[in-house]
Amino acid sequence: MKVLRDMASMRQWSLAQKVIGNRVGFVPTMGSLHDGHLALVDIAKAASDVVVVSIFVNPTQFGPNEDFESYPRNEKLDLDLCEARGVDAVYIPQVDEVYPDDYFTYVAVNTLGDHLCGASRPDHFQGVTTIVSKLFNVVSPDIAVFGQKDAQQARILEKMSRDLQNGVQIVIAPIIRENDGLAMSSRNVRLKEEHRRQASTIFRALSNAKAANDLGQIDSTVLIDLIKDQIEREAVDATVDYIEIVDWVRLSPIELIDRKALIGVALFFGDVRLIDNVILEKKN
Ligand code: PAJ
Repeated sequence: MKVLRDMASMRQWSLAQKVIGNRVGFVPTMGSLHDGHLALVDIAKAASDVVVVSIFVNPTQFGPNEDFESYPRNEKLDLDLCEARGVDAVYIPQVDEVYPDDYFTYVAVNTLGDHLCGASRPDHFQGVTTIVSKLFNVVSPDIAVFGQKDAQQARILEKMSRDLQNGVQIVIAPIIRENDGLAMSSRNVRLKEEHRRQASTIFRALSNAKAANDLGQIDSTVLIDLIKDQIEREAVDATVDYIEIVDWVRLSPIELIDRKALIGVALFFGDVRLIDNVILEKKN
């Protein structure tokens, strides 16, 4: 497995793969890898000839009071996990090469970032779309895999790729969960024991709302209240950031669930922010 730490050598590696006809699959990450990330690697491997994982804790997607400094970092373990999973190259760019002092250019996708996480993290998605387009420019992947765990991010990146015509096929992969249903996240290790226990409520509440929808409940307010009540009862230390139901295509709130939709939840335990979601498929 190659470890590439600068833009020129990454670009050269990818070009060399393309010359011999290999399809390049790509999984961008911020490291601190877990089974959720590694499941994306498996999907990328199945759909391409060689797989690149990038590890970069991207400063432009963190707000001023967010956890950029305390975001977990574990490069040695990440490299071992990548090697064991059959990754071909790991790209670990350096922050001053990515964002030199005179850096001015940002990529933004309009409106899809207005709700859900975008409402509470104003510059977050611009940071994500900027770094991912820069990574795409260097890695030149044929396909890139993102997790439904960050559903709004995945939809925004899908839209960005289509709108910018960069030729990268975006794949959205299912959420990988712990045994009790909590969505795997690099941030879970920062939860106190009691909060970790309460955190499993999120998925139970989302599942109950989905079950109610499957039984015919299409009123968003009713489903949101169901989730809110259960979180208040069972995750007593949590502070809810948002519980929203949006249309899958535009990511804007809907009153009635009459098309494919997304229920998104974000909450805090102390300063640890957790997100999760469930997709409601269109019913006939
Ligand atoms: P990060 O949080 O490291 O996640 C990297 C990828 O792994 C994302 O596509 C995310 O959705 C996916 N992922 C995380 N947890 C998952 C889980 N439990 N199941 C399935 N997929 C999961 O998302 C980012 O990094 C960054 O914003 C990035 C896209 C790398 C840009 O900086």
